[in-house]
Amino acid sequence: MSSSAAALAVAPESRIALFDLQRQRARLERDIRRRMDAVLAHGQFILGPEVDELEKQLAAFAGAAHVITVSSGRDALAIALMAMGVKAGDAVFVPAFTFAATAGAVVSVGAEPVFVDVETATFNMDPADLDRAILETAAAGRLVPRVVMPVDLYGLPADYAAIGAVAARHGLKVLADAAQSFGGGIGNRRVGVLAPVSATSFYPTKPLGCYGDGGAVLADDPDVAEQVRMIRSHGRAGTGDEAVVLGLTARLDTLQAAVLLSKLAGFDDELDRRAEIAARYSAALHGAVIVPTVPSGSRSAFALYTIRVPNRDEVRARLDAAGIGTGLFYRLALHQHPAFKAYIGRPLPVSEQMANETLSLPVHPDLTDAEVDRIIAAVLAATG
Ligand SMILES: Cc1ncc(COP(=O)(O)O)c(C=O)c1O
Repeated sequence: MSSSAAALAVAPESRIALFDLQRQRARLERDIRRRMDAVLAHGQFILGPEVDELEKQLAAFAGAAHVITVSSGRDALAIALMAMGVKAGDAVFVPAFTFAATAGAVVSVGAEPVFVDVETATFNMDPADLDRAILETAAAGRLVPRVVMPVDLYGLPADYAAIGAVAARHGLKVLADAAQSFGGGIGNRRVGVLAPVSATSFYPTKPLGCYGDGGAVLADDPDVAEQVRMIRSHGRAGTGDEAVVLGLTARLDTLQAAVLLSKLAGFDDELDRRAEIAARYSAALHGAVIVPTVPSGSRSAFALYTIRVPNRDEVRARLDAAGIGTGLFYRLALHQHPAFKAYIGRPLPVSEQMANETLSLPVHPDLTDAEVDRIIAAVLAATG
């Protein structure tokens, strides 16, 4: 039987989707509707009171000095880069194994991404390769090394201690692409304070997701925070009509803030459930596949639970036939995308290997234990 014929053999209602936002919606619907109705009633759809309240609650959650919500994760990255003074002629160091938006944000502010390879254990930026990339870029002399932008892939914070040390040695700033990791942390510090500036995403399938596009910048420097606040709203200071700096239309909608306020209330419980599911997978699948490593002291937000298997596409087809939805994050490393071909120039063997071997399993908090068991059995059968 072909895999598509086998897939049809699984009743649609018993398929397990990679993401299932409908179960969460059913759980939270009353509160979300109540909060959205309040926004419809007061009518302040842009920068309404919910946006202010959300920023306060996010700051308290992350322990961050300043939180500025914006229109998406990609916009959060681009605005943070603008606020940090990044411009044409600057080099921004990004891992080669990440979502296209990481490099896209760099290009959109006129700077150039320099790709850095990742570590096999964590999928995150390799500090030793970062050091090499900075030295090579400085020696070539065409670009000025300016910012290091590690990504917390799949929700696991990058190695900020090692990366921060390399960046400091070369006089570079650090901006965390924390699009996938809000809710994660290292030791007693949460994502949002692991780097001087962090950008996150509230895309619907992110651990904390809204019902459209959304994001936030978290910063410890009040001047950077003020710049971000101006840039997201036409470059204006407060309610003034003067464009102080070049700005964008990049605010988070009040309706999205209302959704996020509702979801933030139960976010810690959801993070615990994600971690519990991940631990069950790792205990059961260890040995059959390469399971993700979480360094001791780190906490992943488990936006995705991603295994490595050499015959990834075959395993994926078998899981599909068994009714298990999986995802490829990412099938291409950044330098393999047509849009970023111009920025090749360094060997990136680990990123290419990861793009061929990684496979993400469902890990959303509304999975039942029975479904988790079924996924484990299907992975063992597909890889055995
Ligand atoms: C690593 C990474 N960076 C940036 C983004 C961009 O976020 P958004 O989709 O909210 O623009 C995403 C998510 O999609 C992401 O996964």
